[in-house]
Amino acid sequence: MRKPIVLGNWKLNGTPAASDALVASILAGMASLDAVDIGVCPPCVLIPQAVHQTTGTHLAVGAQNCSEFVTGAYTGEVSADMLREVGCRYVLVGHSERRALFGETNEIAARKVHIALKSGLTPVLCVGETLEERESGQMNTVVEGQIQAVLNEVGIELFARLVIAYEPIWAIGTGLTATPAQAQAMHAMIRGVLGAQSPAVARAVRIQYGGSVKADNAAQLFAEPDIDGGLIGGASLKAEDFLVICRAAADSSR
Ligand code: 13P
Repeated sequence: MRKPIVLGNWKLNGTPAASDALVASILAGMASLDAVDIGVCPPCVLIPQAVHQTTGTHLAVGAQNCSEFVTGAYTGEVSADMLREVGCRYVLVGHSERRALFGETNEIAARKVHIALKSGLTPVLCVGETLEERESGQMNTVVEGQIQAVLNEVGIELFARLVIAYEPIWAIGTGLTATPAQAQAMHAMIRGVLGAQSPAVARAVRIQYGGSVKADNAAQLFAEPDIDGGLIGGASLKAEDFLVICRAAADSSR
């Protein structure tokens, strides 16, 4: 049985005061949500205060990105080791916004996954296709390629320590959600790619769905057998909505 995991990706949103209030509200509503792993990924500069606020609680903190380098003359970068040392548990890698806007290739994402694993973080590998790729029938090839690049870099055994987030790009921030059947089909495809190398790893890896997950559609998505929670953008900025989504994930594990 895989424990569902729900993470809030705050993207470029939040101030110290807003972060403080949001984390406090999430903590206040989390009491009976032990059946789901929950985390928030604030902008980098807000991570230390979120870690401080959540110490000793069941709410984890993650980062939205890390450098592909360990140390050195890389102005503006933040390393996986630094994130780990300030108390992060997760790091998102290869989010479609980083791929599309910041030139992150499959190979760069693979190196980041490797470096995150070495530092003791749990990488959340984000994969997903554009609308054009879906409509031209290339979606499985594209997502398989994104997975394969990481397999080539770290190998199947280390893959057991990853979380995967399937986020169809056309569903991110658009209000368009993949249907539960569309998402389930892709999650099963991803599990199949891993299963060809290790059925045990394929069974163990958690695959989140992301892309316009809201309080009112989370339960249907999480009811699918290969969907193990969600990576939440916009709806993670409202504690009330985020908690409903976490509750849906907890209920799906029963
Ligand atoms: P939305 O939930 O706002 O569509 O964002 C999804 C996402 O990109 C999470 O990483």
